[in-house]
Amino acid sequence: MPKMTFISPDGKRTEVDAPVGLSVLEIAHRNNIDLEGACEGSLACSTCHVIVSQEDYERLKDATEEEEDMLDLAFGLTHTSRLGCQIIMSEELDGLTVTLPAATRNMMVGD
Ligand code: FES
Repeated sequence: MPKMTFISPDGKRTEVDAPVGLSVLEIAHRNNIDLEGACEGSLACSTCHVIVSQEDYERLKDATEEEEDMLDLAFGLTHTSRLGCQIIMSEELDGLTVTLPAATRNMMVGD
């Protein structure tokens, strides 16, 4: 099974199993990684924002226009930012490493 690594804002690395077909957001939740994902993958928030390494970024499918629009609202946007719910794990993405941004701006009120 492919693996992926989450790097928390304080630099802690966590390597986890990354089942093919699951999104980075789902993988984070399965492993108690602190990635919010307020809209559960429906491209209506930017709380699942992750920063991908440059090398991995090039391996990912291009972001859709909808994703780009939501990313524009993400706090701490970088040029290798993506939405975690839009990165779907595949065998090719084995070894993917993403960093959690230091802060997210939660635009959703309540739970
Ligand atoms: S969880 Fe809301 S856009 Fe990804």
